[in-house]
Amino acid sequence: MVAILLIGIAALAGCSAPKPDPRRERLGPNPGEAALRQVADARIGAQKFGRCAQCHSIEPGAGHRAGPNLAGVMGAPVAGDGSYGYTAALRSVGGTWTWQSMNAWLTSPQRFAPGNKMAYPGVTDPLDRADLIAYLEAKSRGR
Ligand code: HEC
Repeated sequence: MVAILLIGIAALAGCSAPKPDPRRERLGPNPGEAALRQVADARIGAQKFGRCAQCHSIEPGAGHRAGPNLAGVMGAPVAGDGSYGYTAALRSVGGTWTWQSMNAWLTSPQRFAPGNKMAYPGVTDPLDRADLIAYLEAKSRGR
């Protein structure tokens, strides 16, 4: 009887509370890039991309929304899709999208390219950024 009750409580708790991500405990409070890259998960990033999908499609050829389509963006030049109207602020940054530049952009778009038009404050959590970048990388392979 008690056992059944406990199982019931455990099942309820499992449904209502979001499971804590076990990777966080292993990473500690200030994880470095190498540690983050090691645990970054493109499938989890795909779910976290929901916050970006309002403004970005990511399937090849899906067209632009408020922001540019992001298929193949990793390794491509910053502001490099000629069919999208970027701001001069983003175009003047130069370089390509690497893990480091994407991490900086997603941390604070306005610090990375002051005056750009991505109306998004940035992703504060390093593991969230790492998962998102892993997803962008997965969507950039073989192009
Ligand atoms: C409210 C709309 C909006 C949201 C939400 C948004 N973006 Fe953007 N994004 C934009 C716009 C607009 C630009 C173009 C900025 C410019 O030209 O100044 C952009 C540009 C970018 C670029 C540069 C692409 C290139 O071709 O160089 C990347 C990468 C990017 N966004 C990733 C993301 C990610 C990842 C998220 C989610 C964490 C996100 N964005 C959320 C609107 C948005």
